[in-house]
Amino acid sequence: MKYTVVLPAAGSGKRMKADRNKLLLELSGKPIFIYTLEVFDRDPDCEGMWLAVKEDERELIEKYVEHYGIKKVKGYAAGGAERQDSVRAGLEMARQSEVVLVHDAARPFISPAVIRELVERANESGAAIAGVPVKDTIKKVREGVITETVDRAELWMIQTPQAFRYKLLMEAAQRAQADGFLGTDEAMLVERTGHPVQIVESTYENVKMTTPDDLIYGKAILESRLQ
Ligand code: CTP
Ligand code: MG
Repeated sequence: MKYTVVLPAAGSGKRMKADRNKLLLELSGKPIFIYTLEVFDRDPDCEGMWLAVKEDERELIEKYVEHYGIKKVKGYAAGGAERQDSVRAGLEMARQSEVVLVHDAARPFISPAVIRELVERANESGAAIAGVPVKDTIKKVREGVITETVDRAELWMIQTPQAFRYKLLMEAAQRAQADGFLGTDEAMLVERTGHPVQIVESTYENVKMTTPDDLIYGKAILESRLQ
């Protein structure tokens, strides 16, 4: 089942505390976002990628894309102040898609099998997102004191890719913008329309490179894949 993918890449990576956008940092000599693009470039079902980038990084990102021989980048959208704005700009460019994936450029370790499952489920039901069951005990805390222990059995940590029928996501994104609603993922925008969103069990390796310790884990994942 064919699909296209929108990759938000226009953040600044504040929590990484680096001197530049974290996506440009290297893992074993290659920029983080290139690993992400390579997964989709190699997937025969992927028909094209749209990247949302900051205007002043576009040239550098394009150079890397060319240097690493990434073939399926169809265009660059202007990133916005919030991730949701960047995604919407990317979606506007991906208009001919039937099923669209949104995937953080900062998640280089996504599994091709999970992508396949997400695309199939989104095609059937409209919306499917990647996630993994929570491993730790989760508690709510107020002013330094536990107020509640939440039942872990129902809790999932949500990742990207998030896959949708294009029309469903675009309408949800437009509605969110009209309402001034800001979500932390695409599924939230679709959830508020009442359309059910399915979950596909992903892998714990599909971690987002967010804080400096994630780079250590990222390097370890790359090394384990060489063995
Ligand atoms: N992103 C984006 N546009 C924004 C903010 C984020 O395209 N205005 C992208 C990031 O580049 C990243 C993905 O969305 O690929 C996930 O966001 P996050 O991990 O929060 O990245 P940053 O916002 O860059 O990091 P931080 O929140 O630590 O500043
Ligand atoms: Mg952010």
